[in-house]
Amino acid sequence: MPSKNAEKFDVIIIGAGPGGYVAAIRCAQLGLKTAVVEKRKTFGGTCLNVGCIPSKALLAASEKYEDAAHHMKDMGIETSVKLNLKTMMKHKTDVIDANTKGIEFLFKKNKITSIEGEGSIVAAGKVKVGKNTYETENIIIATGSDVISLPDIKIDEKRIVSSTGALELPEVPKKMIVIGGGVIGLELGTVWRRLGAEVTVVEFLDNILTGMDGEIRSEAKKIFAKQGINFKLSSKVTGAKTTASGVTLTLEPASGGKSENIKADIVLMAIGRKPYVDGLGLDKVGVKLNERGQIITDEFFETSIEGVYAIGDVITGAMLAHKAEDEGVILAEMLAGQSGHIDYDCIPSVVYSWPEISSVGKTEEQLKEAGVKYSVGKFPFMANGRARAMGCMDGFVKILADSKTDRVLGAHMIGPNVGDLISEVVTVMEFEGTSEDIARICHAHPTLPEAVKEAALAVHKRSIHI
Ligand code: FAD
Ligand code: NAI
Repeated sequence: MPSKNAEKFDVIIIGAGPGGYVAAIRCAQLGLKTAVVEKRKTFGGTCLNVGCIPSKALLAASEKYEDAAHHMKDMGIETSVKLNLKTMMKHKTDVIDANTKGIEFLFKKNKITSIEGEGSIVAAGKVKVGKNTYETENIIIATGSDVISLPDIKIDEKRIVSSTGALELPEVPKKMIVIGGGVIGLELGTVWRRLGAEVTVVEFLDNILTGMDGEIRSEAKKIFAKQGINFKLSSKVTGAKTTASGVTLTLEPASGGKSENIKADIVLMAIGRKPYVDGLGLDKVGVKLNERGQIITDEFFETSIEGVYAIGDVITGAMLAHKAEDEGVILAEMLAGQSGHIDYDCIPSVVYSWPEISSVGKTEEQLKEAGVKYSVGKFPFMANGRARAMGCMDGFVKILADSKTDRVLGAHMIGPNVGDLISEVVTVMEFEGTSEDIARICHAHPTLPEAVKEAALAVHKRSIHI
């Protein structure tokens, strides 16, 4: 089909989430003529519109509410607290707007062409949006992911909601059931528990936070339970019946057995996300997917079709915004003739509950399975002066180092601000550093990062404060 649009681009990116918008900015910085196709009205993808940013806005606001309502009195601050959910939601919307408008500004600043609409690939080098077909040297697919539901349960975003619906409930539910004890379930379950809902998490496996280090998972479950979240582990949902007043879920033990019914006003479906490729026309052009529906790419992010690349949630690996962003930057640099590098063992992940949970590199379970000999250093926040001053002594820092070389292989933390503390270990791991390196670095006192230093010292059984 002849192009209606005379200009030819160096790169057209489909999807303006963290993968796509960051790739676009880097491509433009490197002098490539760049266009982005986005079907939403605003840029920023899942992350800025219905993911990372709104969830963190509600986590931040609900944390302050809970502190004011329940914890500040322990430090001598007495106050009476009233929730204004409408204003809290406006805070969330304002944060989203500021972020998405920021991307709009960055696109203009970098002279990136934005094309509104649903893009499909008609051939290598040709992207169709509405009636127009645009020509380009390279195509980057950055179309992200979408929520998974159970086969017989329909998400209506009213009674049975996905994370998107759970971010805009008009009132605090009395009872909320979360299906899935993963990151979304625990972050958003925490938001609504803090605001007054009775929250029950139903998880198929025998513990929450699948894939994380075992000790962290158990400690996290203990802390969440202490905070008031109910858990039904090793349980599967076999049916849901929605009425005007709520939802009745039928549960069974995961291994089969006697079923039971539980009722809730709201059910949050949070059992994972799947790659989103609808409408791209991949089967017509021959872009291959794996058995999980992810686009197959080589180490240069190229798909089975030359000149067509893919990054972010739509390919293999962790579904995280910063992973998508880093892939976007590297791919842009490779398209501009530079070389790129990403170490997937050094991608941190954070759960933004309170206390926070963070992780990088291998877990103890993975090291055991791989037969690697390792040493463990652990330090509890109970013995950190700053944590005590803040009144947050739950949790610990755990560092795993190679027994022979002392190289840091992983770090797993639960405790105050550990989402920030993990950065130090990521940096050391990127530089192939050792636990000795961390232990020899001077850390300011009294600070939370001292717990990281103490855990590194503990690898060789010489921590000072325990
Ligand atoms: P997306 O952000 O999904 O963007 C894809 C874009 O492509 C969308 O805007 C979509 O409209 C567009 N698109 C799709 N198909 C087409 C088409 N054919 N034509 C045009 N446009 C199209 N990650 C973190 O790292 N930290 C967090 O705190 C965090 N919190 C999260 C909270 C929630 C509730 C959720 C759901 C996710 C969270 N994530 C978090 C995950 C994070 O949002 C994703 O990993 C990230 O958004 C992936 O980026 P992406 O660019 O691959 O895709
Ligand atoms: P998840 O994969 O983290 O957790 C899903 C949970 O549901 C697992 O524990 C799984 O065992 C359980 N499960 C699966 N099927 C089930 C069933 N039938 N019944 C009961 N439980 C079942 O997925 P989640 O929480 O939906 O998040 C999706 C993605 O979004 C994650 O991969 C994550 O990377 C990303 N995300 C990241 C955040 C962050 O970085 N802070 C925040 C929110 C999401």
